[in-house]
Amino acid sequence: MTLDKSSPGFPKVRLRRLRKNPAIRQLLQETRISVKDFIYPVFVKEGITTAEESQTMAGIRKFPLSGLIEEVQECYDLGMRAFIIFGIPSSKDERGSSAFSKHGIVQQSIESLRKTFGDQIVVISDVCLCQYTLSGHCGILRGRRVDNDLSLDLLARIAVSHANSGSDMVAPSAMMDGQVKAIREALDESGFTDTIIMGYSAKHSSSLYSPFREISASAPSLGDRKSYQMSFLNHREALREVMMDIQEGVDIVMVKPAVPYLDLIRRVRDMTNLPLCAYSVSGDYAMIKAASGQGLIDEKQAVHEMLTSIKRAGADILITYHAKLISQILQEE
Ligand code: PBG
Ligand code: ZN
Repeated sequence: MTLDKSSPGFPKVRLRRLRKNPAIRQLLQETRISVKDFIYPVFVKEGITTAEESQTMAGIRKFPLSGLIEEVQECYDLGMRAFIIFGIPSSKDERGSSAFSKHGIVQQSIESLRKTFGDQIVVISDVCLCQYTLSGHCGILRGRRVDNDLSLDLLARIAVSHANSGSDMVAPSAMMDGQVKAIREALDESGFTDTIIMGYSAKHSSSLYSPFREISASAPSLGDRKSYQMSFLNHREALREVMMDIQEGVDIVMVKPAVPYLDLIRRVRDMTNLPLCAYSVSGDYAMIKAASGQGLIDEKQAVHEMLTSIKRAGADILITYHAKLISQILQEE
């Protein structure tokens, strides 16, 4: 739409007419966020008996298996229906075997949620190795390098074990090439043809993950993740990552982080008709918490504005640590 000389202008046109009062503004509201859009991250830690407060993310806790149901019930009562589970195991080894153990912390969490909530909630499980390997890398090492193809087999085993416990959706976040294909094949071979794969398709090597790494004890012990996670300097390469996941049979694509990557969310929205998820990461959360904690900004307003921007950019669903707060805000409206 372009304006030319023949288009009517001021004073015939007055855009402020459309903003006259709250009722008119509400009628003409273009973007709406709803509690049904949110996926809430839940951390379950093996070997603890009471919930632990995060040191880096005020208001986020790690739960023992025995505290999981109560936490999810509280969110359910606020209207939330989707949860992504992150596990913090009590033991790590070179191959990250606690990630695909039948009685691993995530497997037990999924089973417990399934038993209590049945199909009333969507259980999503993060599929990665970094919380489980001694190296803290998302794949396994051969020498000093993260080996792509050796890692695929393990990622597929993790995904199948989650599906076996009752996960609705597995979300591979390791950024190994071919991980979606490997997982799809393994799921299908095991009869889990209806398990959904949500790919962390364009996951960037970001400074905004550090609060999460403290919570989940998953920082790499050597080096960084730049040989597998995307550089934030490259836009076209991110689109290739998304295309690759689509070719491998992913069901839902994701851009991560969300807020500093709104341009990419829009590009992906325009490129594909697949459902699009955006992950507003721990750093987004921590920044708002820190600024509002100092009285510099209003937390509720800032959260509302930030999450709306992600939907406006084109995301269908959002993973956000602010889910409880924003659900309360939306209930009050
Ligand atoms: C692990 C994983 C990370 C996040 C989700 N899954 C951290 C990382 O890649 O280092 C980040 C989440 C956040 O910061 O909120 N693969
Ligand atoms: Zn990882």
